[in-house]
Amino acid sequence: MQSFPAWVVRRAESDGGRGAATASLETLDSDFLDGLSSDDDAGSGPMIDTVVRVEYSSVNYKDALALTGRPGVVRRWPLVPGIDATGVVIESHGPWRPGDVVTLNGAGLGESLHGGLAGRAHVEGSRLVAVPPTMSARQAAAIGTAGFTAMLSVLAIERHGVTPQDGPVLVTGASGGVGSIAVSLLAHAGFEVTASTGRVATQSAFLTELGATDVIDRAELAEAGKPMQTQRWAAVVDAVGGPTLVNAVAQLRHGGVAAACGLAQSADYVGTVLPYILRGVTLAGINSVEASGEERRAAWDRLESDVDLRLLDGLTSVVPLSAAREVADRVLAGGVRGRTVVEIGG
Ligand SMILES: NC(=O)c1ccc[n+]([C@@H]2O[C@H](COP(=O)([O-])OP(=O)(O)OC[C@H]3O[C@@H](n4cnc5c(N)ncnc54)[C@H](OP(=O)(O)O)[C@@H]3O)[C@@H](O)[C@H]2O)c1
Repeated sequence: MQSFPAWVVRRAESDGGRGAATASLETLDSDFLDGLSSDDDAGSGPMIDTVVRVEYSSVNYKDALALTGRPGVVRRWPLVPGIDATGVVIESHGPWRPGDVVTLNGAGLGESLHGGLAGRAHVEGSRLVAVPPTMSARQAAAIGTAGFTAMLSVLAIERHGVTPQDGPVLVTGASGGVGSIAVSLLAHAGFEVTASTGRVATQSAFLTELGATDVIDRAELAEAGKPMQTQRWAAVVDAVGGPTLVNAVAQLRHGGVAAACGLAQSADYVGTVLPYILRGVTLAGINSVEASGEERRAAWDRLESDVDLRLLDGLTSVVPLSAAREVADRVLAGGVRGRTVVEIGG
């Protein structure tokens, strides 16, 4: 049986096996991956029918939490973290053939199912998406959950009927993974984009290069404000939650929409209903994890046509598997820009 490298999050034996969680780089064989999927109740769990040789994963905010032992992401122990996996199908009892180059974002990976920070992944074939022929596996991994979520947010804004003619749009957490790709996608779609960041001094040129026409300091939105504020945005893509999202909603123009996808500032939402009932605004929740196969293919079709691969390469760093834990620390400290792809190797 072939072995492969993998990050594994384990809980310490203390407190009846509920002690502190830590991640370590280990060598596994596929029995380890089978163990978890066979725990699911017959018929009620996901249909794990496809084996992928993972070439690339990435470090999303959730992966940073998992790799540093923080709560809220890993739901079973021990678990291979990594909510993204891109690679080559080795075996499938689903719709795939050996040699197909595929990618998977979320769908329980790295949360309740073993994830992508490993040389192999056993996954649900129905949630896989073929890597578009116009991009490399590394570029698909650079898009990853962050870009998929940014695209779902843009699609939600469009579904709501907001067009570039309706006014400027705001992206919060703009220098991060979701934010930076959202800025570039919205600019590509013709929107005038304002990027909100805590790193105006160092990241303004980067955000302008991605297509932002204005960059504001996130401090402008970070504290609780008035329930109704000057109308500024036709739409918002919010990666940070908390008072930032409440203020952004309070600044939406009549009939505007905020796509809420993140909580980097806070999971709290302490606001009033006034913008909803006086300006008819909408809060659209974005959930990349549970997206259906159809939603995934629709989003990836748009990613294939809309992502500027030159800009994508410019916002991507590539690290070896062994560096994932160190990158996680930097993500949580707010020190990472754009996307970090993890090359599995080995
Ligand atoms: N709903 C979904 O399906 C889904 C999918 C993917 C991600 N997410 C969530 O979306 C968020 C962003 O994910 P990501 O992978 O893009 O993370 P990331 O790369 O770490 O980006 C997060 C960005 O948020 C900003 N930020 C960090 N701390 C902040 C604070 N205290 N106050 C205000 N802004 C802060 C920073 O941007 P600046 O430096 O520019 O200020 C940071 O770069 C996370 O909460 C993640 O869990 C949700």
